[in-house]
Amino acid sequence: SSETSVAELDWPALAERVRTCTNCELHGTRIQTVFGVGSENADLLIIGEAPGAEEDRKGEPFVGRAGKLLDAMLGAIALSRDDVYIANILKCRPPNNRDPQRDESTACTPYLERQIQLLQPKVILALGRIAAQWLLQSDAPIGRLRGQKLGFGNPETPLVASYHPAYLLRSPAAKAKSWEDLRLVRKILRTTP
Ligand code: URA
Repeated sequence: SSETSVAELDWPALAERVRTCTNCELHGTRIQTVFGVGSENADLLIIGEAPGAEEDRKGEPFVGRAGKLLDAMLGAIALSRDDVYIANILKCRPPNNRDPQRDESTACTPYLERQIQLLQPKVILALGRIAAQWLLQSDAPIGRLRGQKLGFGNPETPLVASYHPAYLLRSPAAKAKSWEDLRLVRKILRTTP
């Protein structure tokens, strides 16, 4: 029931809670929620910003053009979509793809925190400034946050921040740094028991 706290929900109950969520105003403009996809045994959790138009229509994260590039990025470290878990800070699309508002991120983050708790990933890859700054509670530019092992939450999960694939589509020169970040992710996966 809705009296059960989010922190106690199992995967199916959490997905259902998100599907029927009205905790912020974005529920009024969504087609559907985008809960997340992938393996519930994944060692790598990828966190983006929010669903776009295509994701809102399909109910799946990163299915547009940026998603195709994300698949290629995963391929570069010998991973596929089925090996990882992919979610966003916001489960609903902001109108016209505007940035998430603080109250929306605050309302939605308990769902992500429960996803992390259920998943227990070895490492989180935060894609883009919005996701990285929110998770790290930092105002530093993404160019400063990327390239190193940081951490999220308590107990702390290792976190690597990197560029958003939509940014890489506009600025292909940044791909070299993105591959460095992916190799760091790979190394953390390899060295974490
Ligand atoms: N961009 C994101 O950050 N997340 C998606 O799911 C799609 C595009």
